[in-house]
Amino acid sequence: MNKNDYTIRLEEKKDYREVENLVRESFWNVYRPGCSEHYVIHVLRDDEAFIPELDFVMEKDGALIGQNMFMKTIIEADDGRVIDILTMGPIGITPKLKRQGYGKAILDYSLEKATAMGFGAVLFEGNIDFYGKSGFDYARKFGIRYHDLPEKADDSFFLCKELIPGYLDGITGVYQTPQGYYVSDEDVEEFDKAFPPKEKLKLPGQIF
Ligand SMILES: CC(C)(COP(=O)(O)OP(=O)(O)OC[C@H]1O[C@@H](n2cnc3c(N)ncnc32)[C@H](O)[C@@H]1OP(=O)(O)O)[C@@H](O)C(=O)NCCC(=O)NCCS
Repeated sequence: MNKNDYTIRLEEKKDYREVENLVRESFWNVYRPGCSEHYVIHVLRDDEAFIPELDFVMEKDGALIGQNMFMKTIIEADDGRVIDILTMGPIGITPKLKRQGYGKAILDYSLEKATAMGFGAVLFEGNIDFYGKSGFDYARKFGIRYHDLPEKADDSFFLCKELIPGYLDGITGVYQTPQGYYVSDEDVEEFDKAFPPKEKLKLPGQIF
C-alpha cells in the first residue's frame, strides 16, 4: 500500500449499491456461510441512529475498495445515567486488498473524524488483533458489559476506545447494540437475490 494511492470521502447515494456489493464481497463466508452485512448497511442508512457525517468510503483507481460507518447508541450506566456513545461497522475492505493496510487507514481516518465531532467513545464487537493497533482495548477494562451476555461468558470480542480521554471514568454499565443491526435471515435472503449469485460455504473459523 502506498500512502497516496487512495482517497477517503463520505458515501453518497450514488454509491449505495456499489458499497453494498463491496461489503457483500468483503464479508462473504467470513463469519458464516454467505453474509448479512450488505443488507445491514442497507437498513442502517435509514435508521435514526445512523450518522451520515461518519459514513465513509475509500476509493482507489476509480473503484470503491473500502467502507466504514458509525451509529449512535448508549451505555445504560449502573447509576441510572444514560451515556451517549458510538458504535461502529460494518467495516470492510475488498477481498483482494485485505491485509495491506487499507483497513487500518480508513479506520484511523474515521476515528479522527468521530473525535473531531466531539463523540466520547466507540464500543463494538471486533477482533483485538486488528482494532488493538488503532487503540482499542477490551471494553471490560472500562467497566462496560455487553448486553445479554452471561456473567462468565467470553467477552473478548467486545472492544472500546475512548475518543475523549477519561470519558468513561467513573462509569460502569451495559452497552446496547442499536436495534438496526438485527436483521432477519429471510430479509437477507430476499435482498441477496438482487446480487450476482455466490456460493455459500461452511468454512473453518466461522462463528455462526
Ligand atoms: C477486517 C478488515 C476490515 C481489516 O482490514 P485490512 O485492510 O485487511 O487490515 P490491515 O491490513 O489494515 O490490518 C492491519 C493489521 O491488523 C491485523 N489484522 C487485520 N485483519 C486481521 C484479521 N482478520 N485477524 C487478525 N489480525 C488482523 C494485522 O496485524 C494487520 O497487520 P499485518 O497484515 O501486517 O499482520 C478486512 O480484512 C475485512 O474487510 N475483513 C472482512 C470483513 C470483516 O471482518 N470486517 C470487520 C468486522 S468486525
